[in-house]
Amino acid sequence: MEKQPVIALDFAKFQEAEHFLNQFSEPLYVKVGMELFYQNGPSMLYQLKEKGHRIFLDLKLHDIPTTVRKAMKGLASLEVDLVNVHAAGGQAMMEAALEGLAQGASGVKRPSIIAVTQLTSTSEHQMRNEQNIQSTLMESVVHYAELAAKSGLDGVVCSPHECQAIKLSVGDPFIRLTPGIRLSGGDLHDQVRTSTPKDANKLGSTAIVVGRAITQSLDPVKAYNDIKNEWSGLE
Ligand code: C5P
Repeated sequence: MEKQPVIALDFAKFQEAEHFLNQFSEPLYVKVGMELFYQNGPSMLYQLKEKGHRIFLDLKLHDIPTTVRKAMKGLASLEVDLVNVHAAGGQAMMEAALEGLAQGASGVKRPSIIAVTQLTSTSEHQMRNEQNIQSTLMESVVHYAELAAKSGLDGVVCSPHECQAIKLSVGDPFIRLTPGIRLSGGDLHDQVRTSTPKDANKLGSTAIVVGRAITQSLDPVKAYNDIKNEWSGLE
């Protein structure tokens, strides 16, 4: 993945996403998540592709292996660039996801697939108390990254703070896609493990996802370019 921030299109209506995208003159890398996808359906993906945008379909699948395999087969036929699952679903589920993608992508390029380790909105305190995982958050994230690699996946979703440890343990090439990105002093909203684009670059993220810092900005194009420049090491 090149140094183009992935913009989270967290809008309820496709018209709002279109209105937002019309401000940009270049094709972008966009993330379609649950909010947009569940309310607007797959057809909108073709409209995004027609405009030249690359698509990360962020549906975070987590179910029994057979269900995930069949679902991924269907998602592959939508010809998106990147999809994901929760690593907590386990190795058999991740292997089934990969198998379904390969089946559904026959004749076209298989979408890349990554696993969510611990959400960037999760703190170590929450993880210990609510998930009852009695390790450090770093250990949990690295463990899930190792499991994702063992299952044949292309990478993980994590926070920039865990990228170096994952790189040491799993090596490259391995996507380390990091949400929770904020410009210095920006509102954290519900994110806990956050970082600036510059730090994400230094810490070893291979891709950043940015939502509200761009979509809720008074000048989204400027916010995007500022973040892109910081992220690319141009600032
Ligand atoms: O607005 P913000 O930049 O916080 O948006 C982050 C986006 O990344 C949201 O769409 C959220 O669903 C997604 N995401 C995340 N943490 C993960 C995986 C995905 O924040 N671990």
